[in-house]
Amino acid sequence: MRVAASIRAPDVNVLVGCAREEIAGFAIMRYGEDDAHLDLLAVALPYRRAGVGRKLLEWLEQCAVVAGIFSVALEVRAANEGAQLFYQRLGYRPLVQLPGYYQGVEAAIRMGRDLSRRSLEERIQGPQF
Ligand SMILES: CC(C)(COP(=O)(O)OP(=O)(O)OC[C@H]1O[C@@H](n2cnc3c(N)ncnc32)[C@H](O)[C@@H]1OP(=O)(O)O)[C@@H](O)C(=O)NCCC(=O)NCCS
Repeated sequence: MRVAASIRAPDVNVLVGCAREEIAGFAIMRYGEDDAHLDLLAVALPYRRAGVGRKLLEWLEQCAVVAGIFSVALEVRAANEGAQLFYQRLGYRPLVQLPGYYQGVEAAIRMGRDLSRRSLEERIQGPQF
């Protein structure tokens, strides 16, 4: 199973956000030599729009920065406008459209973020979490 393999992998962080003993959100980030890839991010419906997704992603980004990795990429369904707005709000920019990315049918948009800008902003403003 993909999640179990991710938990065992040394170059992957599997992050679970809990609230009131429930799982509020879940995220998986894979770290390479020079860049990181967000494999999965989901927040449970009752906990959406409460900052959980932001906290999970910023925690994983901080791990990348500590490891000297300043580039993060991810794919999001082209039809998932809410998630695209979320990523844009967190500083991600659309890079390329990938037709048929999901099961050869649904298109994805690859988005990316340059974390060197983030660490520069934090050196000026201090950490935001
Ligand atoms: C996308 C997702 C992870 C966002 O998580 P979240 O915890 O609800 O997001 P946050 O509360 O941290 O949002 C931070 C900011 O992003 C923006 N944002 C988040 N969701 C948004 C939406 N659906 N529409 C527009 N903007 C959104 C807002 O600006 C928000 O700040 P605000 O609430 O103060 O306005 C969550 O909606 C989700 O799990 N969706 C289903 C799974 C999914 O699409 N995963 C991504 C696949 S790649």
